[in-house]
Amino acid sequence: MNMALYRGLQAIYRESEPLMRKKIIVLNGPNLNLLGSREPETYGSTTLAEIEAMTKAHAQSLEIEIDFRQTNIEGTLVDWIQDAGETADGVILNAAAYTHTSIAVHDAISAIKTPVVEVHLSNIFAREEYRHHSFVSDVAAGVICGFGATGYILAVDALAAMLQRK
Ligand code: DQA
Repeated sequence: MNMALYRGLQAIYRESEPLMRKKIIVLNGPNLNLLGSREPETYGSTTLAEIEAMTKAHAQSLEIEIDFRQTNIEGTLVDWIQDAGETADGVILNAAAYTHTSIAVHDAISAIKTPVVEVHLSNIFAREEYRHHSFVSDVAAGVICGFGATGYILAVDALAAMLQRK
């Protein structure tokens, strides 16, 4: 192959690489900013900043970009889910207590085509009855719960496999 053509193709490939890189948004709901000190017997002692670092390191090894966020506000979570529909290839969502209460979160997930993986640190089915119902599960691509911080890593792998199949 002609050298100039070869270099040109390489440059095009380099530039298009970031476009091909998949992006996952990780959304965390209320009180998850307190992880580490919040009920460690239920949620473990890993902080949210540590979960973010673990998730990013794992995603990087798969060439996936991570945008990691937390809010205590339901409307912000709804805004972020809507945005993810436009800007992300996948969503990992721990809606925390809004999981059990929010039809708005349910409707936001229904409104987007981006796959959403529901994550909970604790096994919500082994806890109080009011945690057994999730407004997220029936509109999620899948659910991971009860594995602590590892659940976020499992969710990255689940989405990576889904996105590869697309
Ligand atoms: C949680 C489980 C929810 O029931 C609870 O309200 C949370 C955290 C979890 O990660 O185990 O805040 O989503």
